[in-house]
Amino acid sequence: MGKILVTGAAGFIGSHTTDQLLAAGHEVLGVDNFRTGHRSNLEAALRSTCFRLEEADVSAAGVMDGLVKEFRPDAIIHLAALVSVQESIQDPDLNQRLNVTATELVAAAARAHGVGRIVFASSAAIYGDTTDLPIDEETPKQPISPYGEAKLASEGILFAAAEQSGLTARCHRYFNVFGPRQDPASPYSGVISIFARRYRDGKPVTIYGDGKQTRDFISVHDVARANVLAATRPGIVSGAANICTGRATSLLDVVRVFAAHYPAVPAPSFAEARKGDIIHSLGWPVRAKEQLGFVAEVPVESALSELIKTN
Ligand code: UD1
Repeated sequence: MGKILVTGAAGFIGSHTTDQLLAAGHEVLGVDNFRTGHRSNLEAALRSTCFRLEEADVSAAGVMDGLVKEFRPDAIIHLAALVSVQESIQDPDLNQRLNVTATELVAAAARAHGVGRIVFASSAAIYGDTTDLPIDEETPKQPISPYGEAKLASEGILFAAAEQSGLTARCHRYFNVFGPRQDPASPYSGVISIFARRYRDGKPVTIYGDGKQTRDFISVHDVARANVLAATRPGIVSGAANICTGRATSLLDVVRVFAAHYPAVPAPSFAEARKGDIIHSLGWPVRAKEQLGFVAEVPVESALSELIKTN
């Protein structure tokens, strides 16, 4: 079994990835500064003797070099990031440090100590607000936020490192990920996390626009599985792939599932569409199947039902 270093291990996607790695018998070193991650996300993982958690900032000089030198991982899954698009606009310098400098330090540490693979949390945000759907990997990269710019720059950093040192770099362009442990704290958090909290608290949700907008919502369990595959499956080569389902789900579809589970909660209210909101987003999932053998398996309806049960 392998040794895997997971940055951002206490985050939403990082904690699910850690859980699946441990379940598959791998040894995991988790790194997190708890800026947006929570120790409670790792409650189960912390009971495993194969897991160690290090509180550290990936973007600080020397941190990754020291940890990689000591742990000697077979692969690094780099998920630590500034995750809010909105925050990247408000604080571009912080975005640069957490989403670009951190990747440079991860790549440098991997090269210095002979790590074979890096799996990176990229984003559909690198495609900007294209209306040319479905989005495949050849779609022009035209990010419209510092967040999207940083994810694209990080891909470049990792592919250059792969060219220069022979390591394998896998960049996962996540679409709209949802599931347990996603933080609903800001109005710009993922819509499903916001809706889950509102329904749980007995409060009506607000739909911006007519609710017919669609997204390619993908369960965090599928996303974690894609990370595990990319880090551990033999014979994988460098590349970037969308991590999506290829299916469009509207907000009205999402609300229908919540409303059926919470009949006492008042009906949603409708408000004006958000400025800059895109109407439809949909990924083309074929490359992940070809390159990783990954196909999303969890239907949105059952992932929503699971989320509601753990709500
Ligand atoms: C994603 C980003 C967002 C970024 C945008 C453009 C996340 C969670 N969001 O938005 O920060 O600006 O890409 O790159 O990564 N909605 C409601 N009610 C709510 C909340 C949201 O109706 O309470 C709507 C939104 O207006 C939108 C849809 O739900 O139409 C989905 O919103 P969201 O989850 O933020 O995802 P994206 O729009 O894809």
